Amino acid sequence: MSSTLPTTADQPLLRRADLGGLSLPNRVVMAPLTRGRAANAALVPTELHAAYYGQRATAGLIITEGTWVSERAVGFVHVPGIYREDQIAGWRRVTDVVHALGGRIVLQLWHTGAASHPDHLGGELPGGPSAVNPRTRSFTAGGFKETVTPREMTTADIAATVADFRAAAENARRAGFDGVEIGALGAFLIAQFLNPRLNRRTDAYGGDRTGRRRLLLDIVDAVAEPWHGRCVGVRLAPYWNEGEHFRADEETLADHDALVTELNDRPVAYLHLRGRDRTTADEAPDLAALARYRRRFDGPLIANNGFDRESGNAVLDAGIADAVSFGTHFIANPDLVTRFALRQEPAVGDPATYYTGGAGGYVDYALSGSGAGAADALVPGV
Ligand SMILES: Cc1cc2nc3c(=O)[nH]c(=O)nc-3n(C[C@H](O)[C@H](O)[C@H](O)COP(=O)(O)O)c2cc1C
Repeated sequence: MSSTLPTTADQPLLRRADLGGLSLPNRVVMAPLTRGRAANAALVPTELHAAYYGQRATAGLIITEGTWVSERAVGFVHVPGIYREDQIAGWRRVTDVVHALGGRIVLQLWHTGAASHPDHLGGELPGGPSAVNPRTRSFTAGGFKETVTPREMTTADIAATVADFRAAAENARRAGFDGVEIGALGAFLIAQFLNPRLNRRTDAYGGDRTGRRRLLLDIVDAVAEPWHGRCVGVRLAPYWNEGEHFRADEETLADHDALVTELNDRPVAYLHLRGRDRTTADEAPDLAALARYRRRFDGPLIANNGFDRESGNAVLDAGIADAVSFGTHFIANPDLVTRFALRQEPAVGDPATYYTGGAGGYVDYALSGSGAGAADALVPGV
């Protein structure tokens, strides 16, 4: 064979990595992806989930879809939980399959807070940091609905929520996960507390940036307990823009600078950063936006948002990240790592089936080397 063909070893994405107690055979991480397939009243993950995650077991690390820490956390249809015994048993089946296939899998912990809707909560108002409508939408059984003005959580509500996160982390351990990731992004509970426009509290959980970040830090400490201070990741999106309240500006970026610095003193296995959104699909991810946090965080960093094989290798090469997570690519390419090794173009998924129930668009994406065009697909690109 020609010695000019690139080898897999040329690609930083395919090198081993250690992320705070998690040992990865490659740096291609599956980003958390809500897929709305737990279509049962008890929100138990099913055999379809086991097949879906099993198909993706060659990822360096799988981060599951956001998963409810409690009934109060629910805010999107057909998303599984980790607060009941039957849910733990369902997840145990998933982790067994992934481990039998040689993979590693951590559970993302999710609470929607004020971004939920009374339809999910037996008609009750959702709780949030303050009585301010986050002005987003919640996906209910009746379709997307506008959020409402939540009730302000009491300190007892906050303590109960921190306890829910701890119990969920303990349950994740019992379900056989390799770790947990705290979802502190989007328009959801922890991000609502971090947000100065939504958090108008004057107690210890608001007032200034130290108060606003207290909920997250309390949750990190609580979740780390059952994990003995290892294998707990945190996911942040400092550049999140949504509606009138979620806007990255000087104040919120400075808040995230201080928060990330503070996380150095906590038992955080890795920081998973969703970077700035690209303005067009052809644009490369903004590496400087991620480097801002690389300078502040001493531990392993996972970069996300808009990466492909080339830009993923580049962000690792530049020393800005230790691993890269891929969302949409993992939907349509269960064997994304193989495709990267072979330098194949990834297949493109169908957004119309992202959240619809059933196997279609979930477990029926072809592996490279199978199906129509497989022979062409196996010819390495350059
Ligand atoms: C269908 C879908 C569901 C998602 N669900 C979650 C989720 O549950 N938790 C989360 O933190 N991010 C979620 N995200 C965001 C992705 O993890 C990721 O940040 C996003 O897809 C950008 O990465 P990409 O450019 O590699 O796709 C979701 C994205 C998509 C497309």
